Amino acid sequence: LFGNERKNSFGFNIEIEGEWHDFEALIQPFMSTTWQAGPIINAQMISTGTTLHAVTAPYDHSHTVGQVNYASAQHVEQALGVATDAFPQWSNTPVSERAAALERLADLLEANYGELMALCHREAGKTLQDSIDEIREAVDFCRYYAVQARLAMSDTVTLPSFDGSTMEIQREGRGVFVCISPWNFPLAIFLGQVTAALAAGNTVVAKPAEQTSIIAFRAIELMLEAGVPGGAIQLIIGEGATLGAPLTSDNRVAGVAFTGSTNTARVINRTLANRQAEPVPFIAETGGQNAMIIDSTCLPEQVARDVVRSAFASAGQRCSALRVLFVQKDIAERIIPMLRGAMMEQVVGNPVLHKTDIGPVIDKKAQSGLQLHIDKMKQNATLIAQAALPADAENGTFIAPTAFEISSIDQLTEEQFGPILHVVRYKASELDTIIDTINASGFGLTLGVHTRNETTANHIAARVRAGNIYINRDQVGAVVGVQPFGGQGLSGTGPKAGGPHYLKRFTREIRQQQA
Ligand code: SER
Repeated sequence: LFGNERKNSFGFNIEIEGEWHDFEALIQPFMSTTWQAGPIINAQMISTGTTLHAVTAPYDHSHTVGQVNYASAQHVEQALGVATDAFPQWSNTPVSERAAALERLADLLEANYGELMALCHREAGKTLQDSIDEIREAVDFCRYYAVQARLAMSDTVTLPSFDGSTMEIQREGRGVFVCISPWNFPLAIFLGQVTAALAAGNTVVAKPAEQTSIIAFRAIELMLEAGVPGGAIQLIIGEGATLGAPLTSDNRVAGVAFTGSTNTARVINRTLANRQAEPVPFIAETGGQNAMIIDSTCLPEQVARDVVRSAFASAGQRCSALRVLFVQKDIAERIIPMLRGAMMEQVVGNPVLHKTDIGPVIDKKAQSGLQLHIDKMKQNATLIAQAALPADAENGTFIAPTAFEISSIDQLTEEQFGPILHVVRYKASELDTIIDTINASGFGLTLGVHTRNETTANHIAARVRAGNIYINRDQVGAVVGVQPFGGQGLSGTGPKAGGPHYLKRFTREIRQQQA
């Protein structure tokens, strides 16, 4: 599952099919490309009846990335029609052929590393390391779900008989799946949802976040090149506010996979429930108020490193990212200065540069929401540290990584999806109260624990309701196939992405009995 990467004094290199390549040489040809993208229906890019949007880089709004055509509600109608008509044929295509097409897509993603990395920088504002990780994860999803499909779909399970008849059970695709994905993993989550749905035998109408339309567009072009038929995959590009309702209220939709906010998940759930059609699966991965608990037995240097990565890497724009750090009082005076020191070392800036640790946030809306929270906290909390912004920060949408000490988690009403950390001190006797407060938030995505006391680690892990619990390490960057990812409660429905049960949720079971 893993690609090999190494960083040396000359920069990043990557091994593709046994040969080492210099990343900079790979991405350079695409640093001044201007892309044209739009909806793709039945393998054709649509450019009529759409509205045109200019895309600029989040780190420099004078830098043009491309032009994108947004779809209309009529295109949604057309896409659902094509996907519905194509379902019988794709569903009857042997699973070995469906899986092989996804494996060819994985090869094509690797063959196009340079272009995709340049797009991750320029459209999504990702650093070099984050761009490498993004493409790697997308490749892993393609290969993992290809394998999972062969396991789950080719099997006919023969059940024990009680009356001499033969009883068998099999799985098949459900119909048209709508896949709605976010901008923070524009290739990995986008392709994770789509490849699972396709491998399971569904046709797909995919609606990626509008902020990262070009990456999704190129991914679908590569998917078609890999041999997925034009009827099986439709791409709808544009704003959720106008396209979400026509996509999810249609009676032809046989299931929805969604990653995004808890509020949007509620809206989709209600829309699906109000249809006259059959009830269908709704797979939602949503928000979090992720905590880390550290006690006085932790290793402070390791904590500083893991907290900085968990809270600030990817500019805090991961659903797994750390938002609230609970520090036992006895060790707070050692941890907080170390954290401050580590934060001040972080280089914020243009993500294309090797020295940059933290790039921009995705857009102006995100930036102003986060800045508002920082301004509010400056009135109501104690500032621990704020890293410096680059001199040309006003050209893009940057937020300085910031940490505050607060008295209680109750001061936080909603998730802040960016590089902002909140620190709460607790007494050893208050550990169970802390656990109850974390559970009371209703969210349950990731949890970090730092302690050298195994009993404490087991106690916390057994009582906190979180989907992914990380002990004595950072809490971001789940790896496909070995760290299946997904939360509980307000954080999502499950099953976990990149895990052995995910693909099955995109299927229906059929039973056959012979006398
Ligand atoms: N899967 C990502 C991570 O683990 C979050 O979306 O960081």
